[in-house]
Amino acid sequence: MKIHAPEPDPARVGHRYLLPRFARRIGFRAAVFLLVLWVGGTPAWAAGDAAAGATKTRACVACHGENGISVAAMWPNLAGQNAPYLAARLKFYQTTTVEQYPAMYPLSAELGEQDIEDLAAHYAGLSVDTCAAQAGATAGDPAAGAQKAAMCAGCHGASAVTANTAWPSLAGQKDQYLVAQLKAFKDGTRVSQVMAPFITALSDQDLVDLAAYYSGLNVQDHAPCE
Ligand code: HEC
Ligand code: HEC
Repeated sequence: MKIHAPEPDPARVGHRYLLPRFARRIGFRAAVFLLVLWVGGTPAWAAGDAAAGATKTRACVACHGENGISVAAMWPNLAGQNAPYLAARLKFYQTTTVEQYPAMYPLSAELGEQDIEDLAAHYAGLSVDTCAAQAGATAGDPAAGAQKAAMCAGCHGASAVTANTAWPSLAGQKDQYLVAQLKAFKDGTRVSQVMAPFITALSDQDLVDLAAYYSGLNVQDHAPCE
């Protein structure tokens, strides 16, 4: 049997009745959401807050490290990378599947727009000596890679730090991660109309040489590691 609570006398409905009654009508979650909107104002796009981002890295450090330097050569460093690029990547992973990106699809799916902007601002602001963190062994020849990198400098920068923050800098990025991404551009599993024309002519040896060159630069001063 359903028990109906007596309707409160309209004349006596105080402020404290309004939210619960409203919530019952539109659902609790929607009511809370609207309350947050009402209290916080309309949430327009807000720039990332690096300090807030620093508090949101708990799910990231296992792979990307405490300081944005990843713990494995096949995982990307995030320290010092351009914030708009990092944010765009996180939004991209949200559109993928767990089969395509077993790590980053589920993690990105948990993030709200503001989390993404905050995390991107946090990682972009980290300045870390990547030479100290390099794994060491590389399959490529950095000197040969440096010569081939001339065709990449127009976008990724003469010192592997790009002027366009929508694009990734490459200085100090992890060796095996770079090789994997370059192969993915080449075989079409990572789609970029901007990158595609520059990658098709490169051999597998070119890709490992380029990765050896870029991973051997320090993200702090863009100079080759000793
Ligand atoms: C289980 C390991 C793991 C965890 C945990 C993890 N990532 Fe990743 N992340 C990866 C891997 C692997 C890639 C490369 C995926 C690919 O091939 O694009 C990646 C790529 C990225 C990229 C793109 C970098 C680039 O240069 O394109 C960003 C940004 C990123 N992760 C942010 C995060 C953030 C923020 C968190 C925490 C919310 C996080 N990741 C947690 C493994 C991880
Ligand atoms: C015309 C501009 C342009 C040129 C030239 C170019 N790139 Fe890129 N590159 C991009 C853009 C834009 C992206 C980001 C693509 C995306 O995420 O959709 C990118 C992404 C990358 C990435 C992925 C980085 C990461 O953190 O995941 C690598 C590696 C890379 N480029 C290497 C190269 C190399 C090596 C060359 C030269 C052979 C080159 N690029 C030439 C524009 C360019």
